[in-house]
Amino acid sequence: MQSDLSIREFKPQDVREIIKLHKESEDFFEEMDINEEFIINISQRRDFRFFIAVLNGRVVGCIGILFYTHVGRAEIGPIAVDKKYRNMQIGTRLLEKALEFLRDRKIHRLISKVKADNQGAMDFFLRRGFQKEGYFREYTKKREDVVQFVRFI
Ligand SMILES: CC(C)(COP(=O)(O)OP(=O)(O)OC[C@H]1O[C@@H](n2cnc3c(N)ncnc32)[C@H](O)[C@@H]1OP(=O)(O)O)[C@@H](O)C(=O)NCCC(=O)NCCS
Repeated sequence: MQSDLSIREFKPQDVREIIKLHKESEDFFEEMDINEEFIINISQRRDFRFFIAVLNGRVVGCIGILFYTHVGRAEIGPIAVDKKYRNMQIGTRLLEKALEFLRDRKIHRLISKVKADNQGAMDFFLRRGFQKEGYFREYTKKREDVVQFVRFI
């Protein structure tokens, strides 16, 4: 099944699928009102890239990266895989695509912030070479704690 998986750049026609993915996992993300206009706007930013995972013609995951080439730093957010397709290495493939993109731009430091109760995502980052580097208390609007992970790339 993995052979039919491809990772590509976001296109405006993906916007509804991205909103669906975000909605399905919204408890894991910062509380924000995400709509089509917001997604289109961020996708057009010069310091942001969205990559999309497509399996058998269907959007099944995405990763967003915010990057600052002048200082060599970047942050992941969001990363999400459709519930039905988790634990099939799709998140890993999305991350690999992001790493390739960032290395080409000489980014050396990649972080990701994860809510402290999101054990699945923390395991994902730890198993993919990230280390815990910070713990931020009451970081979100709902006062949830957040763990920051870093990977030097
Ligand atoms: C985090 C997420 C993107 C991972 O995507 P995925 O396609 O399931 O990840 P992969 O299949 O590539 O998994 C890679 C590793 O992470 C681990 N992992 C992933 N999800 C896990 C979970 N829920 N619990 C425990 N381990 C998990 C797997 O053990 C796997 O490790 P291994 O291959 O070395 O055994 C996905 O679980 C998701 O969409 N979660 C909801 C959204 C979210 O929490 N995003 C992050 C917020 S910052």
